[in-house]
Amino acid sequence: MSTATTTTTTPSGPAGREQQASTRHTKRHLLSSADLNREQVRAILDTASEMHGVQQREVKKLPTLRGRTVVNLFFEDSTRTRSSFEIAGKWLSADVINISGKGSSTSKGESLRDTVLTVAAMGVDALVIRHHASGAAQQVSQWVDAHIINAGDGMHEHPTQALLDAYTMERRLGDLEGRHVVIVGDLTHSRVVRSNLITLKTLGARVTLVAPPTLMPSGITSWAQADGFTLSNDFDAVLPTADSVMMLRVQRERMSGGFFPTAREYTVGYGLTRARLDALTAANPDAVICHPGPMNRGLEIAADAADGAQSLILDQVSAGVAVRMSVLYHLLAGGEGEDS
Ligand code: NCD
Repeated sequence: MSTATTTTTTPSGPAGREQQASTRHTKRHLLSSADLNREQVRAILDTASEMHGVQQREVKKLPTLRGRTVVNLFFEDSTRTRSSFEIAGKWLSADVINISGKGSSTSKGESLRDTVLTVAAMGVDALVIRHHASGAAQQVSQWVDAHIINAGDGMHEHPTQALLDAYTMERRLGDLEGRHVVIVGDLTHSRVVRSNLITLKTLGARVTLVAPPTLMPSGITSWAQADGFTLSNDFDAVLPTADSVMMLRVQRERMSGGFFPTAREYTVGYGLTRARLDALTAANPDAVICHPGPMNRGLEIAADAADGAQSLILDQVSAGVAVRMSVLYHLLAGGEGEDS
């Protein structure tokens, strides 16, 4: 999805309504959030809202991808992303197959390239890939003809998460242009923050990243200067100006050393505690709370914040299906797509 060609889709439109023929981007892959310009993000979010309508129906099935095969190839654990891609593909009538690292021949030592070539040789149309190596999706796109969707590559990117976050926030806050999104937590290990920085900039939001100095990624200062976002180590100072507070998981599985002294100290400095929830609500009763999941309850987010009226966390999960339906539709429906 790296260039901006658009076409008009079939007269019935993605959700099957005659009056809603929508624009479709004929791209081959979604590897990075940077592949999408504003027009393309808008098109995906608009189609997602039509797909959300399908999600509310009793019979949640569109014929759009009948005869297409989508393989979910997950080398890292996942609950939300994998199952929402599976549901998205099924609701669009694609045949969906799930392959995970554990239980496949990769656990016998087969390389990523051989695994991917083997799967592709069966004639799949799209590969949704999650892998612990940054750049894995990009690499795979060079080996096979199928459409590739990056469902998280190491600490690099997670473009569909950023799209579903934007979709969810827009539904509650309206246009994100000029809105202040505060992203807090383990920035160093987060692919979610990298994709969100790109997509939120594309949509014109103002972003502040908050983390202890030990969890600020190297090179972030020059990135912040170049892309116009702000950095802070002081959550309490930033909190009252937030329209949206996005908490990130402390990714212990990616940590080799001690990034903070104790869990308690992390929570005191950077957790969305009950006291901070009260401060946020007092400053801006309409502010929302997001978390990509899975959550470490009691560490980066208190139950009151995760489960309260301002929380959009389950809305994010539900939007994940609609947004992934939209992405599959834009990549796969109709034509073969251009090279990217
Ligand atoms: C995120 C991921 O896997 O990058 N989760 C997700 O996709 N819903 C964030 C995380 O694991 O903390």
